Order: sequence, then C-alpha cells, then structure tokens
Amino acid sequence: MRIRNLTAADLDRVVPLEAGEPSAWNNVDIRREIEQRHGIQLVAVDEADGEIVGWCCSRSFEAEAELLKIVVLGRRRRAGIASALMACLESRLSGAGVRTLFLEVRSHNYPALTLYRKRGFCEVGRRRKYYSSPEDDALILAKTLVGE
Ligand SMILES: CC(C)(COP(=O)(O)OP(=O)(O)OC[C@H]1O[C@@H](n2cnc3c(N)ncnc32)[C@H](O)[C@@H]1OP(=O)(O)O)[C@@H](O)C(=O)NCCC(=O)NCCS
Repeated sequence: MRIRNLTAADLDRVVPLEAGEPSAWNNVDIRREIEQRHGIQLVAVDEADGEIVGWCCSRSFEAEAELLKIVVLGRRRRAGIASALMACLESRLSGAGVRTLFLEVRSHNYPALTLYRKRGFCEVGRRRKYYSSPEDDALILAKTLVGE
C-alpha cells in the first residue's frame, strides 16, 4: 500500500469511500479541499490493483492543524490503513512546523475513538449534541506532534 497526495484525477474514486458515512462529503466538497492552500489531502492506494482504499485531509493554521476527514473502504478496515494515513499525515504536519493536531469525533464512534486513542490523542473538550442524524456529542481530541 502506498500513501500519496490526492489529486483531482482521484475524485471519482474517492467519493464512493464516503458513501453511507454520516456527514459524507461529495465531489464538490472534496474538490474544494484540494484547493485549500494550507490543506493536506492523502490517499491510500493498493499497489496491487491501484484501488484507492482510504483517504484523509487536514487544514492547518500556523502551529495547529485539524484532521477533517479520515475514511477507509468498508471491506478494507482493520488492516492498518487508517493508521498508515495518520502516520503519514502527522509526519507531514510535524515537518511543516505544526505542533498540535486536533480532531472532532462522534462520542459513539468506537472504531475511530479507539484508533485515535491508540495513536496518542487525548480528549480536550466535548460539544454536547453537536451532531444530528443521529444525535451525538462531539469529542474534541488533540495530539502533540513535537518530536515526530
Ligand atoms: C475509523 C476508521 C478510519 C479506522 O480505519 P482502519 O483502517 O480500519 O483502522 P486501522 O486498521 O488502522 O486500526 C488501527 C487501530 O484502531 C482500532 N480500531 C479500528 N477499527 C476498530 C474497530 N472497528 N473496533 C475496535 N477498534 C478498532 C484498533 O485498535 C486498531 O488496531 P488493531 O486492528 O491492531 O486492533 C474506519 O473504521 C472508518 O473509515 N470508519 C468510518 C469513517 C469514520 O468514522 N471516520 C472517523 C471520523 S472522526
């Protein structure tokens, strides 16, 4: 598996990863992200067949960044793909001088919370009933990237 930058040519293969996810992004949302000056967008590509099996993106402002999205293709989960995407993202951000990576996650999203905690993120806040359909609290997590 290879992690590389997302390009506009990947859009049609990234949008289906979002299908069925709460707060799914469409083609326009993802294209807009590519145009972000302070954004990083990564895809995980299966080198055997060229399939895009996951993607993530962040935006940064000076020493802080926010992870906006990370999704792995349903049938390819629990194989370390999200971990590889996050390791690459954290390394890129750290290299660019970012010191703290924040993210928001539904309080009932057990797979994502387990992933983030395993990677050293800590809870720094909670927004009650922040999400709808279904209603859920948002947990705000943060990780210090110094030394990465
Ligand atoms: C969350 C998500 C990105 C994880 O992707 P993934 O490629 O399966 O994650 P990894 O294989 O790298 O998992 C790393 C660790 O996270 C934890 N984890 C991941 N999925 C888990 C699950 N379903 N149940 C329990 N722990 C889980 C485990 O500790 C795992 O390590 P292990 O497999 O050695 O036990 C994926 O489930 C997904 O795309 N979910 C839908 C989108 C989403 O919720 N994104 C996050 C929004 S904030």
